Amino acid sequence: MCGIIGIIGREDVADRLLAGLRRLEYRGYDSAGVAVVENGVLARRRAEGKLDNLARKLAAEPLDGTVGIAHTRWATHGAPTEDNAHPHVVGEVTLVHNGIIENFKPLRDALIAEGRTFASQTDTEVVAHLVDRELQRGLSPVDAVKKVLPQLHGAFALAFLFRSHPDLLIGARLGAPLVVGYGEGETYLGSDALALAPLTQKIAYLDEGDWAVLTRDGVTIHDRDNQVVDRPTTISGLTGAMIDKGNHRHFMQKEIFEQPVVVAQTLGSYLRPLAGEVSLPIPEFDFTQIRRVTIVACGTSFYAGMVAKYWFEQFARVPVDLDVASEFRYREPVLEDGGLALFISQSGETADTLAALRHARAAGQKIAVVVNVPTSSMAREADLLLPTHAGPEIGVASTKAFTCQLAVLAALAANFARAKGRLSREEEQEIVRHLAEAPAAMNAAIAHDDEIEALAPLIAKARDVLYLGRGPDYPMALEGALKLKEISYIHAEGYAAGEMKHGPIALIDEHVPVIVIAPSGPLFDKTVSNMQEVQARGGKVVLISDAEGIAAAGEGTIATIEMPRVHPLIAPLVYAVPVQLLAYHVAVAKGTDVDQPRNLAKSVTVE
Ligand code: M6R
Repeated sequence: MCGIIGIIGREDVADRLLAGLRRLEYRGYDSAGVAVVENGVLARRRAEGKLDNLARKLAAEPLDGTVGIAHTRWATHGAPTEDNAHPHVVGEVTLVHNGIIENFKPLRDALIAEGRTFASQTDTEVVAHLVDRELQRGLSPVDAVKKVLPQLHGAFALAFLFRSHPDLLIGARLGAPLVVGYGEGETYLGSDALALAPLTQKIAYLDEGDWAVLTRDGVTIHDRDNQVVDRPTTISGLTGAMIDKGNHRHFMQKEIFEQPVVVAQTLGSYLRPLAGEVSLPIPEFDFTQIRRVTIVACGTSFYAGMVAKYWFEQFARVPVDLDVASEFRYREPVLEDGGLALFISQSGETADTLAALRHARAAGQKIAVVVNVPTSSMAREADLLLPTHAGPEIGVASTKAFTCQLAVLAALAANFARAKGRLSREEEQEIVRHLAEAPAAMNAAIAHDDEIEALAPLIAKARDVLYLGRGPDYPMALEGALKLKEISYIHAEGYAAGEMKHGPIALIDEHVPVIVIAPSGPLFDKTVSNMQEVQARGGKVVLISDAEGIAAAGEGTIATIEMPRVHPLIAPLVYAVPVQLLAYHVAVAKGTDVDQPRNLAKSVTVE
């Protein structure tokens, strides 16, 4: 996925476009580019790699112009070269694009047959050619875009700039988000409200199929049938300051440290601690009729869903199916009446999850969404919207969004159980009490940061690392491995501890550190038995447990990380912290780009 921004203003825009790209860089950082128009002249700067390369080019060769568009790319079609960097220019038309034009190949072949030549390998350039062709046939820019949009299949957010029309920007969306911003004598386009945060807080979200014509004086929005429509404006509440690193070296570190506060904020919307009650933001939703839950998500959000499956089944005794979103539709799931489909996403824009959501809706499921961006596509398509209140998460590795998802899912499981008559008043009070203790326990976990940092050089030397856990701590093993892989590039796998003996234990030798997640509780002894099987084969174990667990099983390990003693319900929230910190410090020790690891983007809006 990519980030796009456009400004039609009264002062030079290049610096502000670059600043906007900095706020969008989490969406992709393979290349970046800016184009502006001034006095009928189009000028463009593009650079491979991180935004700093483009910033250096712009500093050396500044751009003047009061209208412009810019792009930060996560490569889909074509390598991350300068030639493939956006904006793409064809004749009068300059274009940036987020998404995939799925029918680009036949379109491109037809354009080549007409004698057109392509300067890039991207799918995007096809769109610029199509619009340019309509301009050459005599259509106005607005009519040309209107004519081309229905020819495009796939997912896109587009922003068009026209060399001979410095008074015009056009944006369009289908399957990828695009917002319009309103300023004083200026208007804006952006991939999200964050992109526009320091420019304006007054924004409107385009609906699927919408396209918008921007001038300095206002915006006209059309729907997919080309009817002029009003889309409500909202005040985003985001400011530039919210995406600052503060005193931290990386966004990821800041976001790990923020967790006690944002989890407390999130729980504040779902619990009434004094009354000892769970209280969802949509109290009228009727859970009594729900016979089955289908949970769908990707990556870290999927692991939150794995934990939720344990909780929903344990507390509410409701059967749960669980799928990664990219597989869900293709296994032709049986979705019976009375089902609740639950989608979990930080961004609310992940294409696989969004497509799964639409599949479930078409199959008659009620749609619940746990999401961190309340204005996202998923949020807007939910019957039951369950926001997390993590605030903007910028580091590509998800941390605070994950623990806030767990907080919401625990409250949801308890609410479900109560609605199903499976939870006594006392049990509900006890759950609320334990959840309310989570922020303090997470704080206590963060206090072990120094020890974890001291352990990092040892893990940084490894080529492979294994993580083990049982029950709801098994997803923590998977999450720990994912965190380590994505930011330190060390091969890591998470296993259900009891599964080791069925194959993976063959991997054990003195070079493979094994991180064992074993809070005291009903599964502790079994996990420790599996850990001892590893140690008996020369495995080097790092045990993450509480004081009691470490006293019982710490002997023979190469290191222990002590967590506060917590109730098993909140153990996943607390034990997420050390695995995040370990991955963070290992990545720092290895010198990788923690916030923007290679090949990744924060949210992936292509399937
Ligand atoms: O925005 P989403 O939660 O839908 O994103 C899902 C995954 O792409 C995301 O969790 C990814 O796995 C993270 N990089 C993990 O840290």
